[in-house]
Amino acid sequence: MGRLSGKVAIITGASSGMGRATSIRFAGEGASIVVADLNQEGGEASVRECKENGGNAVFQKTDVSAEAEIKALVARAVKEFGRVDIMYNNAGIGGAVGPLEEISVEDWDKSQAVLLRGVFLGIKHSVPEMRKVGGGSIISTASVAGLRGFQGLHAYCAAKAGVVNLTRSASLEFAKDKIRINCICPGGINTPILHRNQPGVKEAMEDFLAKGQPYPRAGHPEDIAAMALFLASDDSEFVTGQAMVVDGGLTVGSGFANQRTDTAQQILPPRGFMGPSFEG
Ligand SMILES: NC(=O)c1ccc[n+]([C@@H]2O[C@H](COP(=O)([O-])OP(=O)(O)OC[C@H]3O[C@@H](n4cnc5c(N)ncnc54)[C@H](O)[C@@H]3O)[C@@H](O)[C@H]2O)c1
Repeated sequence: MGRLSGKVAIITGASSGMGRATSIRFAGEGASIVVADLNQEGGEASVRECKENGGNAVFQKTDVSAEAEIKALVARAVKEFGRVDIMYNNAGIGGAVGPLEEISVEDWDKSQAVLLRGVFLGIKHSVPEMRKVGGGSIISTASVAGLRGFQGLHAYCAAKAGVVNLTRSASLEFAKDKIRINCICPGGINTPILHRNQPGVKEAMEDFLAKGQPYPRAGHPEDIAAMALFLASDDSEFVTGQAMVVDGGLTVGSGFANQRTDTAQQILPPRGFMGPSFEG
């Protein structure tokens, strides 16, 4: 008996990266999955892997920024599997990057449409189906970029911060319906959004990301799938409105201690006791 036996999950952005890993993990735990994405070829591959992992799955081509397509996605889940228990709003893009003064209104709006409107629509249209079955779990992928600033990522940071706080406000409204709403804030996770499937870059990214946070390895899509499984399952029944950070310690803090320069050691020696400053 899997942790999601009998449950039906919709996962957007499930043709690749975290969405694909989560689909496969959920399928292995007994869920039926609707794999939703713009990318049909990748989505069909995810469906095959879900089935190989013991679950049932179908692909629905979906643009998460289009309300009619999200409605059709929820309807497909009901038509195929009879209900919706889990909605994972995970699709994403980098969006408008670079200096703020150079961002066009069009690129700003396109970024928000996918990253923030897509989450709003996923919540809006899955809630009615979850009410019919007495509750459910809505998960969205935010980011550590929704908790702090990252240079050159203004549109992305704004949208992901929006996802974090929409999670909170929506969780207040739907708790009475036993619909839990949480988001995940990944740190550096080695997926195609970073390596773009370019030859050799995935391997280089492993090393680069391993140095980006205290825990000494890159983040992997399976790390996010594990958190998504917790949030989707009844194990998290009393958890709602939360932003769950999965980042190998990236956002925990920073320290001079990591900098082995003379100046850094002047400020904070590697060991010992630091008394009043006038004593030198
Ligand atoms: N990889 C990281 O380091 C990282 C860190 C924090 C947050 N995130 C977020 O994680 C989520 C998953 O990204 P990933 O890293 O797995 O990247 P990915 O590129 O592998 O997967 C994202 C998927 O979303 C799909 N998609 C994009 N626009 C869409 C749209 N309009 N409608 C439907 N599908 C669409 C893509 O086709 C792709 O399959 C995204 O929301 C991303 O912003 C990623």
